[in-house]
Formats: sequence, structure tokens, C-alpha cells
Amino acid sequence: MFSILKPFLFNLDPEKAHDLAIKSLKFNVIPEKFFKVENEEILETTFLKRKIKNPIGLAAGFDKSAEVYSQLSKFGFGLIEVGTVTPRKQFGNPKPRIFRLEEDEALINRLGFNNDGLETIMKRLDRRIDPSFSLGVNIGPNFDSSSYEADFCLCLFNIMKRRLADYVTINISSPNTENLRDFHNQNELGNLLEAIQNEKKKLNTNTPIAVKISPDIENSKIELISDILIKYSVNIVIISNTTDRNREHLKNINKLEKGGLSGKPIEKRSNELINLFYKIIGKKIKIIGVGGIDSGMGVFKKITNGASLVQLYTGMVYNGP
Ligand code: FNR
Repeated sequence: MFSILKPFLFNLDPEKAHDLAIKSLKFNVIPEKFFKVENEEILETTFLKRKIKNPIGLAAGFDKSAEVYSQLSKFGFGLIEVGTVTPRKQFGNPKPRIFRLEEDEALINRLGFNNDGLETIMKRLDRRIDPSFSLGVNIGPNFDSSSYEADFCLCLFNIMKRRLADYVTINISSPNTENLRDFHNQNELGNLLEAIQNEKKKLNTNTPIAVKISPDIENSKIELISDILIKYSVNIVIISNTTDRNREHLKNINKLEKGGLSGKPIEKRSNELINLFYKIIGKKIKIIGVGGIDSGMGVFKKITNGASLVQLYTGMVYNGP
């Protein structure tokens, strides 16, 4: 079905195509038979004490406001991460803000955390019924917040209090929210994770924490970041978010657009970073590998570099579900 739909979808503005996909899922206009996915027993795995059908997940950013995560699970994902969710609803950056780079099998986006806000999204998460996949909720601050740290804590506290997520991801790596990536610095990261652990203590919860990191960190920082993640008992590290570098070798003129680059061009760096982190934290913290996956071989490379699970987004845009 996707090969028939693709020329039509690719004629649309990328964000309109995405909105259409969300609406089609929301209003169930796609016939059930197109969702039929054979579950292969050999791919079953256990993640956070839950048995899931496979280690392949949908990355954050597709279902930003948790509108269609149940329908998406029918595509066969063993793991779905919704968000990024911010405390208050926000529109994000002016449009256009998603760009296709077809020859490069890549996207550039500068959405800027557009989402319906914590309250609305929590109501949707409350309606979850299907336990066959693991559900992550990715959180971040409002762009005009006076304290990014307070925003993270507010989202985390409310989501964990109502037990709405199997894990909560602290997104410190979007290039589209000003200064967010400063949380990769030693002091900022330590302070943030300490505040997060304090929120968890208040609730006496052991819901796991994931931290999603940028591919643009210096390799010399990996050891320091790893030490802090271990010190504050982070359970999962997600490697990686989009990059605002690596534009030189791209073919499509949209490479000049500002924003985060995803897809094939980030695969190599993502795999390298997974490997470097695995050597330090592999026995203590689980790694979810993300970046440029569009095939079984892509999954295999991430797993052999040290990932326990993987996620994808751009590969689905180019190759369909
Ligand atoms: C993203 N990504 C993302 N990540 C995140 O943590 N929060 C978000 O809100 C978003 N939003 C978002 C929008 C769009 C249009 C894209 C393409 C990506 C990043 C995404 O989760 C993933 O980390 C990267 O895209 C790399 O994986 P792929 O796309 O190469 O498989």
C-alpha cells in the first residue's frame, strides 16, 4: 500500500503528510488488514520486566501528543515513545519546519516541541489498554520557560504519579530548543538528574528514567557523562537525537535549512556513539539505539554495537510502516 501512497504523500508538504498520517490513524480509515504483522517468536524480548513482541520501537516525535500510539502498535512496534511533551501546550516554530532530503534519505526538522501540553496528553495516556508494547513518554521544557529544570520535574512528577509510562525520557538533546543541550555539561546534567531523583523519591516510585543524548557531543565527554548517568541511577540511555552538523556531504539543497538532521546521514555517528558508551556503561545501563535505521541490517548493526533495543522514525517516512 505504501508504494502506491508514497508519490501522493511526497507531493504534499512534509508536515501536511505527517498530519494526514496522524488523522488517518486517529479516525481508523486504514483497513485492519493492512496492519497485519506476523509476530516472530524469535524476536520476543523482555524490556523493563514487560514481555514485548520485538526490540523495535518508534522514536519520539512522530506521535508528539499521544494521539495514535495504540493504532501505531498495530504496525508491530514492540516499543513506542510519545512526546516530546512540555508542561504547557505550544505551537512550535513558524512553518515550514520539516524538510525532506530525498537523495540523502534524510529529514531536517525545526519543529520546536509543538505539542498539546501535559494535561491533555495525560488524559490520552490514561486510556491505554494494550499492554503488548512498552510505552515511553519523552518530556522537555517549554521554549519560554523560566526554568527548564522545573519543567522537567513537573512533567516527570505528574506522569509518574499517575503511572502513565513504562519509562520517562529526559530529552536534553533537541537542537531546536535554545540552550537545551547545555544539559550535557557536567554541572547542569548532575543538577538536573539530582532534581529528577528527588521527584522520584517524593513519589517512592521506581519507574525507569531514560536520558536521550545528542550525537554532537565531543567524544572526550563520553566518560564524564557516563559517570554522571551511573551516579544518578539512570536506567536507559537513548543514543541519539538529531544533529545540527554533518551537512557538507549532503546532496539535497534543503541541507541549508536550519534544524536537526535525521535518517541515513546520522547512522554512522549514532552507531559509533552507541559503541563508545557501551564500552563504559554496557553492564549498568541499557542502550536504546536510534538513528538512520531502515532495514534489518540497520537494526543488527545497532544491536552488535551495544544497543538492547532500537527506535526509528525517518526510515518509516521513506519506506513506510
Ligand atoms: C524527531 N525527533 C525527536 N526526538 C525527541 O526526543 N523529541 C521530539 O519531539 C522529536 N521530534 C522529531 C520530529 C521529527 C520530524 C523527526 C524526524 C525527529 C528525533 C527522533 O526521535 C530520532 O531521535 C531521530 O530522528 C533519529 O532517528 P531516525 O529518524 O534517523 O530513525
